[in-house]
Amino acid sequence: MKSRARKRKPARTGVAPSEKLWGGRFSRGADPAAERFTGSLAFDRRLWPHDVRGSVAWAKALAKAGLLSASERDTIVKGLEAVQEELAAGTFPFRAELEDIHTNVERRLQELVGDVGGKLHTGRSRNDQIALDERLYLREVIARVRAGLRRAQETLVARAAETVDAPLPGYTHLQRAQPIVLGHHLLAYVFMLQRDRERFGDCGSRADTLTLGAAALAGTAFPVDLEALAKDLGFSAVSPNSLDAVSDRDALLEFLAGAAITGMHLSRLAADLTLWATAEFGFVEFSDAFATGSSIMPQKKNPDVAELIRGKSGRLYGNLMAVLTTMKGLPLAYNSDMQEDKEPFFDSVDTLEAILAVLPPMLASLAFRTDRMRRAAGENFATATDLADYLVRKGVPFRQAHALVGRIVRFCEAEGKSLEGLGLVELRRFSPLFDDDAKDALTVEASLRARALTGGTAPEAVRRSLALARTLIARA
Ligand code: ARG
Repeated sequence: MKSRARKRKPARTGVAPSEKLWGGRFSRGADPAAERFTGSLAFDRRLWPHDVRGSVAWAKALAKAGLLSASERDTIVKGLEAVQEELAAGTFPFRAELEDIHTNVERRLQELVGDVGGKLHTGRSRNDQIALDERLYLREVIARVRAGLRRAQETLVARAAETVDAPLPGYTHLQRAQPIVLGHHLLAYVFMLQRDRERFGDCGSRADTLTLGAAALAGTAFPVDLEALAKDLGFSAVSPNSLDAVSDRDALLEFLAGAAITGMHLSRLAADLTLWATAEFGFVEFSDAFATGSSIMPQKKNPDVAELIRGKSGRLYGNLMAVLTTMKGLPLAYNSDMQEDKEPFFDSVDTLEAILAVLPPMLASLAFRTDRMRRAAGENFATATDLADYLVRKGVPFRQAHALVGRIVRFCEAEGKSLEGLGLVELRRFSPLFDDDAKDALTVEASLRARALTGGTAPEAVRRSLALARTLIARA
């Protein structure tokens, strides 16, 4: 058995060690399974524009520090531009066995410009390089996500402006509670998305430091002008600690947390709309363009888009948990575990962008059934609180007024009447304080009008909130 095992062909190795960036101290190539297992090219290739940009800036900084001659710098920069063209044109010869995007770019540069390309990695490590690439990418993503959130806000504001005077029941415990106007309900989401938009902005401002120069962990040993490099790459400061610079993934975590919270907000909006689209509610109809049918039930129209917006919050939470868990307990500084940050991060980016692409047109195409909402707004004793408030204005302590109106509601239920259906004589049987104007207090319109303080549902107050929302949205 032993001798047969010895005769077995040696394990096929992947790329020769000399091809690796780190091949010098290795006498044999990696096991192909190990090579596949450790490679990240399949997912980190999307970072190429940022990787090339960082390398161009680094080459210029090396030249300023006297580590590259002007002609070496120009050769490297031109070479990187050629690499970039190949990448942009889709003709770049990606080699999965070269581990990651950083190695692919550097190797290709060497192929194109020769040995001088080997000077690019002076004083730099893939550890500070990946931290930089991720920050540059994050900056771009944050700008896109914030623009997408703004488009969603603008659509909601437009729909709210149409419906400032459209009453519907407001709910607590999913039981009809008090009348509100639809514009008020829609604006609630505008303010949630405003916080989300600000959160992504905060995340970007905390990620505004240069990590390049940290090298592997201890800082570069060459006199590179990091402040100038920071400026060149659009960062306002240099990271003050090299260990932190290469081992920190807070910016990604903040993005993931922001995405999870945004997903939660949008899941609630989607849930409201899905509920409103039921036959039982009938408050909204989805456009055919944002609904799907059933393969068996010919009559069905399903709010798939809204359901999936609700459903995708699950993976946004999962991605946050995945990266938090990966980072937990990692000793300083860089560890390969951190390569696991990318797929969840990119998945949240893609998921959020996909949601934000479909949400504004879906919202714009909703047909609100304001007639049905209006009818429902006054049902189920929705203005009972207003009747109690009427008595309070006549000096009755609120607790007593609450109990008294509770008895009126019980009476109405027994008699099969609505509050508005009660005559003054019947009301006076419960309290002599009821006058002619008591009936007015019971209308939906009066109930709405009464809530005119800041943040209330009175159309007048909602108009003020609408103006505020427009101001906030117009801000960067
Ligand atoms: N692919 C790596 C990552 O995503 C880049 C940094 C690798 N550094 C290293 N020493 N293996 O984290």
